[in-house]
Amino acid sequence: MLDPRTLSRRSFMRRMLGAGVGLLSLEFVGGSLAFLWPNITDGFGATFRVGRLADILAAQPKFAQGYPYSFSAARSFLVNVPAALALASGVPIEMTSPAADEMIALWRKCPHLGCMVPDLCESVKRFQCRCHGSTFNILGEKLEKGPAERGMDRFAVFIEADGTVVIDTREILFGAPEGVVTFTDPHPPDIGCS
Ligand code: FES
Repeated sequence: MLDPRTLSRRSFMRRMLGAGVGLLSLEFVGGSLAFLWPNITDGFGATFRVGRLADILAAQPKFAQGYPYSFSAARSFLVNVPAALALASGVPIEMTSPAADEMIALWRKCPHLGCMVPDLCESVKRFQCRCHGSTFNILGEKLEKGPAERGMDRFAVFIEADGTVVIDTREILFGAPEGVVTFTDPHPPDIGCS
């Protein structure tokens, strides 16, 4: 016959083991949620209403001449593509009313190791990450200089019925691999910002 004290010790050990497994499971679930959740709780991973084109132009008149509009809430550059291409080609135009499909939103998180890509540089009208020098043309397409293996990632842009421009950060559209470009500016492909 078993000693009742031995039995209760076993039962105690089983309970402790069960509690330990339960705690570990809770930690695992909690950790997974914490990993998945930040994009939502900090406001990223949502749609952002940038404003009407008139508001954007009032805040940054040079948007009409192709200079990207930095919209910090979406951590993005909104690019007026026809004007940007003209600017980077050296023949600037004035474009005050681009359609939704004439704008792109470039995520400022560098596709190499995640540094914040600074504003367009004036010298060659390109983006260049300060961390390791990855260089992108005005459409965020990866050029020869720097270690990033793809262009800057993008978000969809649309215009609501009332004319508000919206950046949708819920889905990341990955940049094209290095060397795949749809636009070539007049500067050598292997130079960055001076
Ligand atoms: S993080 Fe941008 S080049 Fe390395």
